Amino acid sequence: MDKVLITGGSGFIGSNLANYLYDLGTKVYVIDDLSKGKKEYLKKGIQLEVTDIASNKAIDFIKKVKPEFIVHLAAQSNQEISFKNPKADLEKNFFPIAKITEVASQIKVKKFVFSSSAAIYAETENVPIDELSKKEPTSPYGVSKLCSEYYLNFAGKHYNLPYITLRFSNVYGENQDSTAEGGVVAIFILKAIKGEKITIFGSGEQTRDFIYVKDVIDLIYRSMNSQLKGEFNVGTSRETSINTLSNLILKITNKKLSVQYEKNRNFGVKRNALSNQKIYRHLNWKPKISLETGLNLTANFFKVRSS
Ligand SMILES: NC(=O)c1ccc[n+]([C@@H]2O[C@H](COP(=O)([O-])OP(=O)(O)OC[C@H]3O[C@@H](n4cnc5c(N)ncnc54)[C@H](O)[C@@H]3O)[C@@H](O)[C@H]2O)c1
Repeated sequence: MDKVLITGGSGFIGSNLANYLYDLGTKVYVIDDLSKGKKEYLKKGIQLEVTDIASNKAIDFIKKVKPEFIVHLAAQSNQEISFKNPKADLEKNFFPIAKITEVASQIKVKKFVFSSSAAIYAETENVPIDELSKKEPTSPYGVSKLCSEYYLNFAGKHYNLPYITLRFSNVYGENQDSTAEGGVVAIFILKAIKGEKITIFGSGEQTRDFIYVKDVIDLIYRSMNSQLKGEFNVGTSRETSINTLSNLILKITNKKLSVQYEKNRNFGVKRNALSNQKIYRHLNWKPKISLETGLNLTANFFKVRSS
């Protein structure tokens, strides 16, 4: 693997992937508007182009670099924000896919990887959710991801673009955003470290599928190196309730804090876990890191960072 371009490569998943590939000796290029990502997450030697993925500057940069692989991660990645401004969400998350797939086909990339989400699926009791499950997003964010999937599927055929869509469940780990808009794991860990109350929206019995970022990176890498095309879930197949998660985090951080419950927010499904059977059949991939181990690693990262 010689040259890889990662859009959104200064963000949480992107920076983990960029640094991993760089350590393997790959030339890594990142396009990121730094709306959320951070320059400091990237190792020196990784070339960062600060621009919007929808800009001509971004397209020119891709043409100049001519990467063998493009991993398209850039997105407004927060469901709650997508409700506040659905139009902006579609503009950021859906519209750029047309331009970027066109340029990817022109430069004949070996693989185009797209990050989709569990948010494309309908609410269901049939958990873990497999790829044939009904698609009915419950947020504008989910709609933008599903629209992008449809477009990519079209571009795959129309431009003969080798692509793979990876539908991530809830990814957590190092470099995750720990602000009020970030992932629940990072927020809970940081609160626990600071000795602040953890807030849970709803009963806490709603479930999610937490997957450690390095397992996700391993899969992205494997999928780039394979001939595999199409749409695949990336999850643990396992549900964890928010109450279980908060208890685990309090145990790991050795804190005895009270948990405060607040009214449920009007988005997000009751139960969620993504079946990883399909990707296992094709790539023999399953996550290796248990939730407890992954949370320990993440808590250590945040402890060092906040000390
Ligand atoms: N983290 C998860 O649990 C999860 C779950 C499902 C899907 N995803 C998807 O995976 C991808 C990466 O997620 P993440 O958690 O690393 O999110 P993130 O917000 O940390 O990273 C996204 C990056 O894209 C950049 N960006 C946003 N809009 C841009 C634009 N128009 N042009 C250039 N850069 C832009 C941001 O600055 C940020 O660095 C996203 O597409 C997200 O929707 C993430």
